[in-house]
Formats: sequence, structure tokens, C-alpha cells
Amino acid sequence: MNRLREKVAIVTGAGQGIGEAIARRFADEGAHVVVAELNPELGERVARDLREGSGTEAIFIKTDVADARSVDAMTAETVERLGRPDILVNNAGIAVFGDPLEITDGDWARCMSVDLDGAWFCCRAALPHMLAKGQGAIVNIASNHSFQVIRNTFPYPVAKHGLLGLTRSLAIEYADKGITVNAISPGYIATPLNDRLFAENLDPDARAKVEARQPVKRLGKPEEIAAVAAMLASDEARFIVGANIVVDGGVTIRMYE
Ligand SMILES: NC(=O)c1ccc[n+]([C@@H]2O[C@H](COP(=O)([O-])OP(=O)(O)OC[C@H]3O[C@@H](n4cnc5c(N)ncnc54)[C@H](O)[C@@H]3O)[C@@H](O)[C@H]2O)c1
Repeated sequence: MNRLREKVAIVTGAGQGIGEAIARRFADEGAHVVVAELNPELGERVARDLREGSGTEAIFIKTDVADARSVDAMTAETVERLGRPDILVNNAGIAVFGDPLEITDGDWARCMSVDLDGAWFCCRAALPHMLAKGQGAIVNIASNHSFQVIRNTFPYPVAKHGLLGLTRSLAIEYADKGITVNAISPGYIATPLNDRLFAENLDPDARAKVEARQPVKRLGKPEEIAAVAAMLASDEARFIVGANIVVDGGVTIRMYE
């Protein structure tokens, strides 16, 4: 522990779920954390907990990653209050699932703007500060939908495939500048996002069926993603460039049963 001592880390969508677990783990590792979250109630709660529970600084900055001006304002406030960011975790994301010919233009735009544009806006805002420091680590929270497809989940996989493209492209652009860009692809993780999807499912046994289909017979925990994010954000991972670490309990490598 303490691998991120005195580093300034921005974690988007850190008000709950995977982002919250990453923010908590980063604070435990000694980082000063910006909870860049759309929902003020969730964001304030996490930042307050972090301030009280660790010796590090933690601030909530209301941020809509889909809005470039909001992202730029969040980055400027980060620099002013905590200093230039060393770490950016693009975690904020939404699930927009549908049939390709039934989704609206609005559904498409919402998905792309949060899941793909949002990550790019945050990278674009943070990179000049990382370049000025000569170091930085960007971790993008992708998905197993970044390289596999389940029917009726359109256009989420389109955006998540794009996020891997963004990861690899920026990784190569900045590899010789002391900045690493990597992705984590979680499988099924027990978060409020999945709680909502299970609740909306017409099949009351949907969750149990998904659990039974996992090689490890359970959903992942947000902390299991946070542990990998902490490693990728730390100086131990300086030679990991443009990687996509799959953390899914083995579900995507199994052919079938
Ligand atoms: N839960 C899973 O099984 C799973 C699997 C693969 C990938 N992921 C990815 O992990 C990330 C986090 O997922 P989660 O399950 O923790 O989600 P979640 O819905 O539980 O939490 C997401 C958080 O992001 C915030 N947010 C949403 N839109 C935002 C915006 N425009 N700007 C800033 N914040 C915003 C929400 O308010 C919320 O606090 C997402 O990118 C998701 O696609 C999740």
C-alpha cells in the first residue's frame, strides 16, 4: 500500500460502483482523489468518506464527462486545488442496450457521448498537465463488450470497442513521454448498474442464471477492478503500454459448456 503516495488522481463516475471502489483504493494507496461525478449526492458522500477515512485530500467536482466544457472546468479546478493530475481513470459509463433498428438517434448519441467522447474529453484535458510533469497514467474502464458482442446490446459495444481503440492510439502517441494509457475490461461486476439491469429484466431469475454461467459462479466485486486499476496507475506498471487487462472471472475465454 502507498503506491500512489502524493499523486493526484481524477476518477470519473466515482460516486458509486466500480468508480467508487477505485477512488477508495487510490486513497488507501495515498493518492489525493478527485471524485468527478455527475450526481452531487453520490459524489459528495464518497469524497467526504475519503477525507474522513484516509490521510489524503479528496474533493468532489460535479462533472458531466459528455460535456467538454464541464470536463475542462473540472480539470482546471483540480489543478487549482490539488495540482496537476498524475492519474486519470475514465470510468464513467452508461449501458444503452437495444436493437440496432429500434434505437433512437438520441440513444446512439447518449451512449457515444458518455462512453467514448467522455473518455476522450478527459484525456484531452489531462494530457497537457501530464506532459508538463513528464509522467502520467491513464486507465480506461472498458468492458468485455470491447472485444465480444452480445445480441441486443447495441450500441454499447460500438462505444466500448472505440474505447479500446482510443486506449491503443493514445498509448502509442505518448509512450515516449512518460505517459501510459491502458484499459481494464471488467466482466459482470456487482454494481448499481447491474442491479438496475437485473431489476428491469422480465426474468426474476436473471441474476442467478448469470451467476451460474460464470466460471467462478459469482459476479465480480468492484474492489477486484480497483486492485488492477491501482497497479496500472502505479509506477510498477511503467512498461505496460496500451494493454487491455480482462478481469472477468474467465467468462470470455470459455467457448461453451
Ligand atoms: N458493472 C459491470 O458489470 C461492468 C462491466 C463492464 C464494464 N463496466 C463499465 O464500468 C464503468 C462503471 O460501471 P458501474 O457498473 O460502476 O456503473 P454505475 O452505473 O454503477 O456507476 C456509474 C457512475 O458514473 C456516473 N456517471 C454516469 N454518467 C456520467 C457522466 N456523464 N459524467 C460523470 N459521471 C457519470 C453515475 O452517476 C454513477 O455514479 C462503466 O464505464 C461501465 O461501462 C461495468
